[in-house]
Amino acid sequence: MKIAFVGKGGSGKTTLSSLFIRHLAAAGAPVVAVDADINQHLGAALGLDEAEASALPAMGEHLPLIKNYLRGSNPRISSAETMIKTTPPGEGSRLLRVREDNPVYDACARPVELDGSAVRLMVTGPFTDADLGVACYHSKTGAVELCLNHLVDGRDEYVVVDMTAGSDSFASGMFTRFDITFLVAEPTRRGVSVYRQYKEYAAGYGVALKVIGNKVHGQDDLDFLRAEVGDDLLVTVGHSDWVRAMEKGRPPRFGFLEKPNLRALRVLRTTADAAYEHRDWERYTRQMVHFHLKNARSWGNERTGADLAAQVDPGFVLGEGVVAPA
Ligand SMILES: Nc1ncnc2c1ncn2[C@@H]1O[C@H](COP(=O)(O)OP(=O)(O)O)[C@@H](O)[C@H]1O
Ligand SMILES: [Mg+2]
Repeated sequence: MKIAFVGKGGSGKTTLSSLFIRHLAAAGAPVVAVDADINQHLGAALGLDEAEASALPAMGEHLPLIKNYLRGSNPRISSAETMIKTTPPGEGSRLLRVREDNPVYDACARPVELDGSAVRLMVTGPFTDADLGVACYHSKTGAVELCLNHLVDGRDEYVVVDMTAGSDSFASGMFTRFDITFLVAEPTRRGVSVYRQYKEYAAGYGVALKVIGNKVHGQDDLDFLRAEVGDDLLVTVGHSDWVRAMEKGRPPRFGFLEKPNLRALRVLRTTADAAYEHRDWERYTRQMVHFHLKNARSWGNERTGADLAAQVDPGFVLGEGVVAPA
């Protein structure tokens, strides 16, 4: 299943996604972790030191490889140059799986050891506000979107994306690629305003959105979030000394995480697992085609000089039954 953590900068997206990733890894679940946040801190939050984090390969720098691999022998996609971030897979495309080795992971993913088990970590590479919102041909998050759209993920496999909720993800359709979106909000007006905006964009697309209240301290914070967010409030997390110790470079064993925070992580997993049961591959495919046609019309056709609507394979539905070509 695919899980996004979104929210305003500083709300705790990276912290909570890293805790969730550690929780999954501790249970032995296969995880691909993706850092698509403006500030690239997921590696550090997973315990990498500065040298290790800066040595991670950037997905944004491997776009040609990613495109060429994914398009495979799909006759509707004549070159990597005409493949934009929303180009959907079709017959002949290569698909990705969580548990496999492939050239995309070879180039872009690195294993991160977490208390005995390992997850795969992929990072977009640093980007700025200016990279977002532009209908950008070289979009860094475009590399992530292409991977998500070509990924066949099963019930017990987790893809966790730490993501900036920029207009980029709304224009391209990235926000519809997840079984569940966890919006991290502090109990402040700005925190909940990001929630409202997200909810508005998501309306009509069947996006499952749940709020994680973070840095919640006392009854007044809780009452505030309940009043502003209502039933969308899933769990709250308070200040964590475990997180603070980790940030001091003295990470305790994950087993020492505070019990209430562990309980919150369990709720996240149960919620994500339940959301996957509603996965509808046909709708998933339809939405990627919808956003591809929208992007083709608004900038892609002009930019590539091709009719990108012709890339859509009308008979293709992404799903577990689809057999990738050898
Ligand atoms: N529950 C928490 N307990 C303690 N510190 C936290 C907690 N949540 C976030 N922080 C701290 O707040 C800062 C911002 O969090 P971060 O996860 O980097 O936010 P974002 O990714 O949304 O920008 C970090 O220094 C982080 O360690
Ligand atoms: Mg972050």
